[in-house]
Amino acid sequence: MPQDSVTITDHRTGNTIESPVSYGTYPNNGASTPSLALRELKMGDDDFGMLGYDPAFMNTASCKSSITFIDGEKGVLRYRGYPIEQLAENSNFLETAFLLMHGELPTGTEYQVWVDEVTNHTLLHENIKHLIDAFWHDAHPMGMLTATVAAMSTFYPDSKNVTDADSRHLQIIRLLAKLPTIAAFAYRRTLGRPYAHPNNRLSYAGNFMNMLFKTVELQYEPDPVLEKALDVLFVLHADHEQNCSTTAVRCSGSALTDPYCAIAAGCGALYGPLHGGANEAVLRMLTEIEKVENIPAFIETVKGGERRLMGFGHRVYKNYDPRAQIIKQTADRVFEVTGRNSLTDIALELERVALEDDYFVSRKLYPNVDFYSGLIYQAMGFPTDFFPVLFAIGRTAGWLAQWQELLTDPEQRISRPRQIYTGSKERDYVPMDARS
Ligand code: CMC
Repeated sequence: MPQDSVTITDHRTGNTIESPVSYGTYPNNGASTPSLALRELKMGDDDFGMLGYDPAFMNTASCKSSITFIDGEKGVLRYRGYPIEQLAENSNFLETAFLLMHGELPTGTEYQVWVDEVTNHTLLHENIKHLIDAFWHDAHPMGMLTATVAAMSTFYPDSKNVTDADSRHLQIIRLLAKLPTIAAFAYRRTLGRPYAHPNNRLSYAGNFMNMLFKTVELQYEPDPVLEKALDVLFVLHADHEQNCSTTAVRCSGSALTDPYCAIAAGCGALYGPLHGGANEAVLRMLTEIEKVENIPAFIETVKGGERRLMGFGHRVYKNYDPRAQIIKQTADRVFEVTGRNSLTDIALELERVALEDDYFVSRKLYPNVDFYSGLIYQAMGFPTDFFPVLFAIGRTAGWLAQWQELLTDPEQRISRPRQIYTGSKERDYVPMDARS
């Protein structure tokens, strides 16, 4: 009868410890043993005990979570058990946000209350507008978003009450509601256009388009295909379990900081080109490649280690990212309205060449969510540096669900990794004139 434990022998001492094994929903996908068990492995009484060494958390589970499931080998992504393909097809962003937050799809009444709550919190305080005004016209919109979200903490001091469920709910609603408004104002600040106020008659994505693109018309009417595409992109980006930015949100949230500062930490992490900034980097890369004939030379520079093929590879997926598959189909629908993005041919050929090349095949490098999303965003008229902001709007739902889960998890404490110190041993201070 197999035991649910592991035995570890310390050959330095001959001591053996037995550590329990516990499982997640899928035993073949979530067996774990507490790293703290290693601390029992000591050379003597004054030995601190052994640490697990895991730079970049390659094999460390930092929490138990019931929000999102990924099987990276099979290319599976589910929110609360529902396949991403079904949610992208049948749900919408606000319903998905409810699902992430509450664990279940809403009833009709719950959905209506939720949508009304979010819709009624979309306005920004006038002083937040002044804050956005203060940015230079070519400020990166992700910097504007990050700073403005952090600044919201000063407008809502009640948000410090993170242990109060009602207060948490209110901040969740505010953040979901106001992120698109901040993003749209940052966009219009860049263009020097007057800010367009929210229109509560429209859907979440439709209103966002209204705040971005409305000019002099009395009522802005979003194109339904583009509105749906944007909504699908928000659904696809809504959560991705313990990625870099979510970990940033959880880490700062674990210090009981307010959610605006925690989400700002997530925005900061997302901004990077290896994470949510990759969609922007992909577009710049495709523009730089310029034509299909330049692809072989470009691929050689990647294989030579000079640069990365942006939008390819993933820490967890060792198969086609299921989100990339849906985005590719969405792109076709968008291009019927906007016309085909001229960079599409380069992207398709780049994918074809990479997926036949041993460098990428042997490393299991496939297109990720960021490879095709930028083509849609560009076709819809978004400037390249705005792409990570679009990612952030969707991901805010996941960040908030994860933040809430963290705060209600009795096993969680302040995040505080250990280190392996490799510096000097104790030594005496040397006066400056005695230093060589
Ligand atoms: N182009 C070329 N080589 C790559 C790439 C790439 N995009 N990604 C990984 N590799 C190689 C890497 O050089 C390494 O090769 P070797 O074993 O010879 O040293 C091997 O594949 C493993 O890579 P890694 O850097 O150890 O993998 P990681 O899990 O630490 O990094 C990643 C994951 C997403 C940061 C990386 O694949 C990457 O830089 N991709 C490009 C940026 C990108 O598209 N990011 C978006 C990720 S998906 C959305 C999101 O999370 O925001």
